[in-house]
Amino acid sequence: MCGIMGYLGPKDAVEVVLGGLECLEYRGYDSAGIALAEGRKIGISKCVGSVANLKAQLEKNPLSGKLGIGHTRWATHGGVTRENAHPHVDADGKVVLIHNGIIENFHELGEEFSKKGARFASETDTEIVAFLISSLYEDDPLLAIREACARLRGSFAFVILFANISDRYYCVRKGPPLVLGTAEGEAFCASDVTALLPYTRNILFMEDDEIAELSAEGVALYGFDGTPKETRTQTVDWDASMTSKGMYPHFMLKEIEEQGSILRRTLTGRVGGAGEEGIDLGKEFPFSEEDARKFRRIHLVACGTSCHAAAVAGRLADKFADMDVRVEAASEYRYGNVICDAHTLAIFVSQSGETADTLAAARQARARGARCLAVTNAVNSSLAREVGSVLELRAGPEIGVAATKTFIGQLAALTLLVLWLGKRKGNLDREKELRLTEELARLPLKLEKILGQGESLRKMAERHKDAFGFLFIGRGASHAIGMEGALKLKEISYVHAEAHAAGEMKHGPIAILDVRLPVVAVVPKDDLYEKTLSNIQEARARSAPIIAIASEGDEDIRRFSDDCFFIPRTENELTPFLTVVPLQLFAYHLASLLGKEIDRPRNLAKSVTVE
Ligand code: AGP
Repeated sequence: MCGIMGYLGPKDAVEVVLGGLECLEYRGYDSAGIALAEGRKIGISKCVGSVANLKAQLEKNPLSGKLGIGHTRWATHGGVTRENAHPHVDADGKVVLIHNGIIENFHELGEEFSKKGARFASETDTEIVAFLISSLYEDDPLLAIREACARLRGSFAFVILFANISDRYYCVRKGPPLVLGTAEGEAFCASDVTALLPYTRNILFMEDDEIAELSAEGVALYGFDGTPKETRTQTVDWDASMTSKGMYPHFMLKEIEEQGSILRRTLTGRVGGAGEEGIDLGKEFPFSEEDARKFRRIHLVACGTSCHAAAVAGRLADKFADMDVRVEAASEYRYGNVICDAHTLAIFVSQSGETADTLAAARQARARGARCLAVTNAVNSSLAREVGSVLELRAGPEIGVAATKTFIGQLAALTLLVLWLGKRKGNLDREKELRLTEELARLPLKLEKILGQGESLRKMAERHKDAFGFLFIGRGASHAIGMEGALKLKEISYVHAEAHAAGEMKHGPIAILDVRLPVVAVVPKDDLYEKTLSNIQEARARSAPIIAIASEGDEDIRRFSDDCFFIPRTENELTPFLTVVPLQLFAYHLASLLGKEIDRPRNLAKSVTVE
């Protein structure tokens, strides 16, 4: 959570930092702030709300400089106030600092400084760090930072300015992500590579327990013990156009519409169609055929939308992998007494690769001896490094807080993985493998056919925009898709939505049904179709309007529903790729009709790096 941006170079630092913060606003938008080194003085401007508010404030009271740092906050310690906005500064104005993460011993340190007479301006866990570094600083900034880090508990990414130094600034990482960028005479830092793409593609992903000194000459990297480290700059293959909205009103809509091409990209080179190798996961895939035959358990662990993709994969694994399958939210898995060993394949799914609970779950599974794999869009993320082996989503940067295109990438990567395992386990014959892989290759076109019907989903949202809430039902993988549909709706429209396994409805949720609470039934023509149809009728008998997401050619469903959306026919196992898309668009249009801030839903942040 929280977005960080820093710049030193010949350009106007205000412009670069504000541009970066706008790009990082998906990480938090409770408040925003900037600090500019102007000679031996540091100017600070901060405010409650978005970067737009900060911009307006700077127009009235401008700051300027060639070295600047900025922050957009997702509040943890201390309310949403100007005082709690970053940057924070020590009492003498010597050290100015921005922070992403949590300082666990801030209270203890605060008391120590209070006894010496310190007075704090904020309620944050960050301000004390500026006091601490300042108290340790004589003339060696690196030493002061190192000594301060040794006294801190928790997780932190800091960017630090010293008032008497205007040609360098410092970054520290222990936990939350921080990436550095360099160009001729310029040095950048940010929480996420997307903010740097307009300026440079020469990127250094900081690792934990590192301190960087950034100057016009470039980056010097040190360990927390002061040992100089080699700078590992690499060229990233994302470009700035991937992070712009283009002609779309919202990133979310752009990203929904990109899903056909994301699916093609995720499958490219991994699905051989009619070739010898049906599915080839490439050299980066760490498991041999022999490993696969020995696996006895498969754990699929993730949070939020990624956990819904894991749940879809779990149903597929039930069918093909011939293993004990466990799908669990990372925030639960990490505290459970989970049995793992060398015959356990533990898969951690995360678009960002930075989710704190998923990281902690992966650490635990590794410590218990499981063979681990990260399925992520961020190959340089903390999760990728923790786990060591990565199946990449190839979805490109996702900016909308509500995940959409990475969900499709996750479904594709996980489906390939489970089918690959199924084949090694002897549960997927050649004929079925070909049927599924050939159909996978056809899915992007079918998905694009659904995208072409956005207007009918907008009209459907219009008809239901005054509903009191929504109940999503489905069975098997369609239950997971119902959960994803409900999550999308809640996240961006703030309308109450809950999802249940269709067969569970009569065990309680049915009590809430009435004419103001539509039931969204995910009911493709698969093995469980008739069972779900019975549940639809039970809901209908309680006067709930029925919205059905059904398969093309299913004329019966019209009789039992008030609103239908038809997906193209596909293999039973692959329906989630298609049923989720109308639900994403329905949520998008409903939120849009209700006038919500779609790309920046309240209280949420794109990557949840706190526990
Ligand atoms: C998705 O729309 C949400 N923003 C959220 O549930 C997200 O999927 C979750 O926080 C997990 O994030 P990750 O995939 O980056 O680990």
